[in-house]
Amino acid sequence: MTETRSDTLVLFGATGDLAYKKIFPALYAMVARGVLSEPIIGIAFDDWSIEQLQARAREGITKAVGQIDEAVFAKLASLLQYVSGDYRNQSTFDKLKEAIGAAKHPLYYLAVPPSMFEPVVQGLEQSGGAAGARLMVEKPFGRDLQSARWLNRVLHIVFEEKAIFRIDHYLGKEAIQNLLYFRFANSFLEPIWNRNHIESVQITMAEDFGVQGRGRFYDEVGCIRDVIQNHLLNVLLLLAMEPPSGRAADDLIDEKVQVLKAIRTLKKEDVVRGQFNGYLAEPGVQPGSTVETFAAARFFVDTWRWQDVPFFIRAGKNLPAHLTEVVVKLKRPPLDVFDSIKAEDANYIRFRIAPEVAVAIGARRKAAGEAMIGEQVELFAVDENVGDMEPYERLIGDAMNGNSLLFTRQDASEIAWRIVAPVLDYKTTPHAYEPGTWGPEAMADFAPPNGWVSPMT
Ligand code: BG6
Repeated sequence: MTETRSDTLVLFGATGDLAYKKIFPALYAMVARGVLSEPIIGIAFDDWSIEQLQARAREGITKAVGQIDEAVFAKLASLLQYVSGDYRNQSTFDKLKEAIGAAKHPLYYLAVPPSMFEPVVQGLEQSGGAAGARLMVEKPFGRDLQSARWLNRVLHIVFEEKAIFRIDHYLGKEAIQNLLYFRFANSFLEPIWNRNHIESVQITMAEDFGVQGRGRFYDEVGCIRDVIQNHLLNVLLLLAMEPPSGRAADDLIDEKVQVLKAIRTLKKEDVVRGQFNGYLAEPGVQPGSTVETFAAARFFVDTWRWQDVPFFIRAGKNLPAHLTEVVVKLKRPPLDVFDSIKAEDANYIRFRIAPEVAVAIGARRKAAGEAMIGEQVELFAVDENVGDMEPYERLIGDAMNGNSLLFTRQDASEIAWRIVAPVLDYKTTPHAYEPGTWGPEAMADFAPPNGWVSPMT
């Protein structure tokens, strides 16, 4: 079924940080590729002129892309309008309605904190602007199961589920899409992709920088909410899901939800939390904050395919490197025919998500020489041709076209909170770690069987 394309993009939070860093550069790239020619209405509280918004957009784009193409920017600027006002004032939405004019299918993009979702949705409804429209909402989608349920209820008063697009920008990454494609477009994986052959799954997202001036935001969120409950759990789903029965968005999402339902709720002993030394001195961070900047968690998926296979996720700020990887570790061969093979030297498949997109196979081969002695090697396929499409570009385009494949459905958004619920909001201080290390010392006892496979550096 072909969906009607949105005929206007309305950006709430147009003067904010996300618009500056990600959204305007994405819109610029869409204009450059010739796939965006609809009006764009920025809206925010700041009493700015359109020239101010254009200047801010230009600055954000220049930062992101380096040299700006003036013709492309002029086209983008010509599409842009600005409405300023308080989201709690109905007059703001009446002004917006006027700016939207004759457009019948606007896409409202809420790049604002979740506390603003309710007034915005109500304002849209009361101004008559919600009919025929779509709604795209930014993360974080709530703080826990209860607040996510509440948000869903609020959105559903006005918008049908089909018209709601919950963003997780990770799903818009080329490498994440490749993960899904690679799994279901190659037959050699399927026979080994189960508990009989796989020993553990290891997902690492490391950042070698701190909270970068986002202390106030981060201190209300912490690592589990910031990247594990959404981005990294989504990666786990793509690894663990069954093949979808069709190409429709719901076919894929149904399979992801089946996995979510089968994931055990975390217990305290399934998690190690850390906080880097120096975090408490970051601007915006509460004195004595117990928020974690590092977390490692062990998940289990209770299905025939995955029973007892641990899925480890670790993520953190101020670690030694900036990279994201998945390692699917196989069991060692049943017998040593030549030299003795250590369990940690068993085969693995590595999906490098960032900074490069790569797939590698960890294997043993005979080391050159007289003896039948082996050595570890990695057989690599680095994808040099990943293009330059940023996740936001892909996702805004998809939402405008009504394609919900890469967005989070209501049931998924809620179950993910159920899984992490017991490990949120600790009142105890996390283990300390030094910036530039792989997390706290407590990690020495928290590892997949036979250890973490070291990330590619
Ligand atoms: C965001 C988090 O969602 O994802 C950030 O809020 C994190 O803390 C970022 O740095 C990582 O995304 P990417 O695409 O840069 O890996």
